[in-house]
Amino acid sequence: MLKLPIHYLKKLPKSSLRNYCAELGVQHNIFNRFKKDDYTNITDRVMYHMNKNLHLKNNHPLSIVRQRIVNYFNKTFVIRNNPVFSVYDQLPPIVTVDQNFDSLLVPTNHPSRNKSDCYYINRNYLLRAHMTAHQMDILKTGLNNFLIIGDVYRRDEIDKTHYPVFHQIDAVRLKDSKDFFPDNDHFQIFEASDDAESIRGQEKQPCHTIEAVKIMEEELKSTLEGLAKSLFGEKIEFQWVDTHFPFTQPSWELEILHNGQWLETLGCGIMKQSILTSAGVTDKIGWAFGLGLERISMCLYKIPDIRLFWSKDSGFLNQFDLDNINSNITYKAVSQFPQCKNDISFWLPESKEFSSNDFYDLVRNVGGDLIEQVKLVDKFVHPKSKKVSHCYRIIYRHMEKTLTQKEVNIVHKEIEKNIRNQLGVTIR
Ligand code: PHE
Repeated sequence: MLKLPIHYLKKLPKSSLRNYCAELGVQHNIFNRFKKDDYTNITDRVMYHMNKNLHLKNNHPLSIVRQRIVNYFNKTFVIRNNPVFSVYDQLPPIVTVDQNFDSLLVPTNHPSRNKSDCYYINRNYLLRAHMTAHQMDILKTGLNNFLIIGDVYRRDEIDKTHYPVFHQIDAVRLKDSKDFFPDNDHFQIFEASDDAESIRGQEKQPCHTIEAVKIMEEELKSTLEGLAKSLFGEKIEFQWVDTHFPFTQPSWELEILHNGQWLETLGCGIMKQSILTSAGVTDKIGWAFGLGLERISMCLYKIPDIRLFWSKDSGFLNQFDLDNINSNITYKAVSQFPQCKNDISFWLPESKEFSSNDFYDLVRNVGGDLIEQVKLVDKFVHPKSKKVSHCYRIIYRHMEKTLTQKEVNIVHKEIEKNIRNQLGVTIR
């Protein structure tokens, strides 16, 4: 049985941290199946989080929110008493670069493809960075209405709202001209156009009629506003913001007002027609969206730290053992253990590239869930040598006990050793 490093540290000599990581690696040795190459950057820590299926776990807040959203769709879209949307919630997270990017028209130079943003297994495979990665495959099966739910993986900063693994629900809904007005043979979805991809931004795609786009926009937005109200109550305040995705046009984000702040909760839009064409769909127009389950659960239940979703502590999980999944309970902190702060300063390597996300990953890989936050607090360029130095503040906090400075120092030393060896930095 695997435990958090701090338990492990107590039982074993200091040098055992690496064994702990190795132990994690054995559990999911995906490198028996996939060859490593110069793109490989997936960490043991991230592999350890694969296949946990928190979104399907009984009494887990992510699972409760998933169920509420699925219920909303089953209630809202019904034909002859049958739910219209099919649900995929157990697709494995390893996908191809084609699935995650190419099939969705993400340009080859788009920053979201960078090694510093994704967990690559090798040049051809990565852990999906969004559930949209499965859109093309499901479209090709001929389905018109579906939800895709699962864990997604992104390299990012470390704080209370970011974690390398989180959960998303994606949806697709397609309609042909008969679905708009069954009695009207003249309603057109398409009109002649020169170049379907030539117009960018918020305008409609040239191949669509304005009528079809407006009706789709209205259905998409009212569906999502209805969803927000069913989760947060009728009084929830929200706003639509124009945005851009490579796979939808026009595209929007829905922000909700939470504790006086506008929070982005989802992205959506009218699907790019060329995606549908590639999937063999020629007579339909579609809308799609993707939303993050953690963000919604944190607002809904006032969960203060994203690491709590991974807690095995009964003090956390028991609070979500609800008789009625629709009850809007407020999470009560079991107790708040004190933080320990340690700074780390180093000179960046001169002969090698350095990305802060490499550093964050390494810190997380060694320190695991003891790491609450990592912040770049100072940057400095030496006036003579032109060498660059970064100083990061690492905030340690265990969710279930008080950490001693001595325990923190062991992990901190291990982080120093690892960044020296792996990132080529010089500790100051
Ligand atoms: N995949 C997008 C994201 O992760 C969300 C999205 C899905 C936007 C589908 C539009 C359509 O941010």
